[in-house]
Amino acid sequence: MKIAIVVGTRPEIIKMSPIIKYCELKNIKHDIIHSQQHYSENMDKLFFKDLGIEYPKINLGVKSKKPHAQIAEIMKKCGEIFIKNCYDFILVQGDTNTVLAAALAANKCKIKLGHVEAGLRSFDYSMPEEINRIITDSISDFCFCPTETSASYLRKSGISDSKIFVVGNTIADSIKINLDKFKYIEIHKKFSLDKRYALVTLHRPSNVDDKENLEKIIQSLSLISKKYNYEIVFPVHPRTKKNIKEMNIKTHNIRLMDPLGYFDFLSLINNSSLIFTDSGGIQEEACILGKPCVTLRENTERPETIDVCSNILTGLNEEQIISAVNYWENNPQNWQQPFGDGTSSQKIINILKHG
Ligand code: UD1
Ligand code: UDP
Repeated sequence: MKIAIVVGTRPEIIKMSPIIKYCELKNIKHDIIHSQQHYSENMDKLFFKDLGIEYPKINLGVKSKKPHAQIAEIMKKCGEIFIKNCYDFILVQGDTNTVLAAALAANKCKIKLGHVEAGLRSFDYSMPEEINRIITDSISDFCFCPTETSASYLRKSGISDSKIFVVGNTIADSIKINLDKFKYIEIHKKFSLDKRYALVTLHRPSNVDDKENLEKIIQSLSLISKKYNYEIVFPVHPRTKKNIKEMNIKTHNIRLMDPLGYFDFLSLINNSSLIFTDSGGIQEEACILGKPCVTLRENTERPETIDVCSNILTGLNEEQIISAVNYWENNPQNWQQPFGDGTSSQKIINILKHG
């Protein structure tokens, strides 16, 4: 069997890496196709290097564009490569524009499509990712769901049971594989951090493309830093960096830094007291690593983290954010993480072998 593994952004590189490693281990023929939706050194090459994966020879070089142009270009280029290389399966992961484009190309080229992290739903149709997920799930031959919850959403939407496989989330594989690489980093020393710090990431358009919303979040974080004596550490996504600069947002009491490599970032999570985020993957990583999370959104496509009480949704309301911090100051942090035992990649490849 010959598989094409399509990636485009930072989280896709990370979450596909255990599958790539498993293919290497088992000598399964595979090509990595990179759209380069993310292309800055610290959103792209750094991750292949950290994760010990050769930088993809098949690089579509699409980079940032308006969504319709980006999706069209990735779809066209993927289609040409898919046909030329006669793949048996195309694998995509998550909900980005790269995923939607490659999924449509696989469908039009009549090649079987596997969707890793299928069935996630925020039920917020203003998110571009929600549309990408729904379409990708609906045309996938293999929906690899991380949990029973995600599988149940697919069943409810009428997707046949024969296409649904609950396999866990490959983020758990990645943490398991890389534990020794981040566990021993002396992160306080490396970044000259106070003992107690909160880690922040933001990149959702609804939070960072709107000046009022971005200012609101930054002001709340700044207040929390003083009120609770937290150092606030904020590795800034390029979308957000651009907006902070262009909107001239003041970031008092907050330590901004460029996006970090994977191991430094996992170590930062692992040693933090609290996480504030709007990221999908970071809600999962916080849950797996036993760190309390405050999600600065009205909804999440990771309801499992709410169910196990590792995550609190606050939206952008300052009172709610403070009340969530109070909760985490006063309540124990123990839960069973719901994202699997770190064997998702193995399960996915074995299912394809029999498919
Ligand atoms: C994309 C995904 C989002 C995912 C996120 C992971 C879509 C619709 N969005 O959002 O689901 O959670 O990646 O981080 O697919 N930029 C750079 N360098 C880069 C990449 C981006 O400077 O390497 C800047 C550009 O100004 C670009 C902006 O960031 O216009 C946004 O990038 P884009 O890939 O469109 O969306 P993300 O916010 O990264
Ligand atoms: N991450 C990283 N460095 C950073 C910020 C995030 O390595 O400075 C990793 C993080 O560990 C997680 C992934 O990037 O695995 C999450 O990516 P992002 O938040 O951009 O996307 P999302 O998960 O929301 O799609």
